Amino acid sequence: MTEKLLIAANWKMNDAPTGFDAPDSPYRPKPDIDVVVFATHMDIARCVECGIVTGGQGARPEAKGAFTGDVSMSMLRSRGCTHVLCGHSERRKFHEESDAFVAEQAKAALALGLIPIVCVGETLDERTSGKEKDVVRKQLESIPAAVNVIAYEPVWAIGTGKNATPAEAQEMHAFIRSLRPDTRIIYGGSLSAANARDLLSQPDIDGGLIGGASLKVDEFRTIVETGRAL
Ligand code: PGA
Repeated sequence: MTEKLLIAANWKMNDAPTGFDAPDSPYRPKPDIDVVVFATHMDIARCVECGIVTGGQGARPEAKGAFTGDVSMSMLRSRGCTHVLCGHSERRKFHEESDAFVAEQAKAALALGLIPIVCVGETLDERTSGKEKDVVRKQLESIPAAVNVIAYEPVWAIGTGKNATPAEAQEMHAFIRSLRPDTRIIYGGSLSAANARDLLSQPDIDGGLIGGASLKVDEFRTIVETGRAL
């Protein structure tokens, strides 16, 4: 892929880091790299107001209705979001979101002009039993063809400090690329300032989805600058 790298911050259930809106903030748009921030619903407005490219961490496909505690894709869109995460493993685990539901979310997002970033990835058990590609293939099968950003996030690497090695990540990204040729494929799972260069320089890694390290302004800046320098 010849596109710019995409660096996405996933703040999860954390407040926007102090200084996220500073004039030199690494979360702000840059000319030579795409930066997107997935904020909590509470912080979406603050991010949009200061010009950050902002996404929701999830939403239901219906436009409105009796879904206590949820928001809709159309609400994200009308509040200025351009992106939405779908199928993050934490949503699959804690909210029992299925492949079918993730597909509905992605379709609803696409219909509204939101860019869905759909997450896939295997658990540690699935990898140790050699099923990681089967699992990822199955997750990919239900994702609408029009989705053009996929995040490969091995579940065992998320929030653990144990990232996939560049070779492991590259191998899976190449596999995903073989199934979805025109897709941006970003890596997530303990991506940090320390491993950003090695991961982001892999030929089939088109960017990163960053959780913990995206809450530390200086570390996130280093990751963004590492990506810009590649
Ligand atoms: P992590 O999270 O960088 O803290 O591992 C990544 C993610 O869950 O998107």
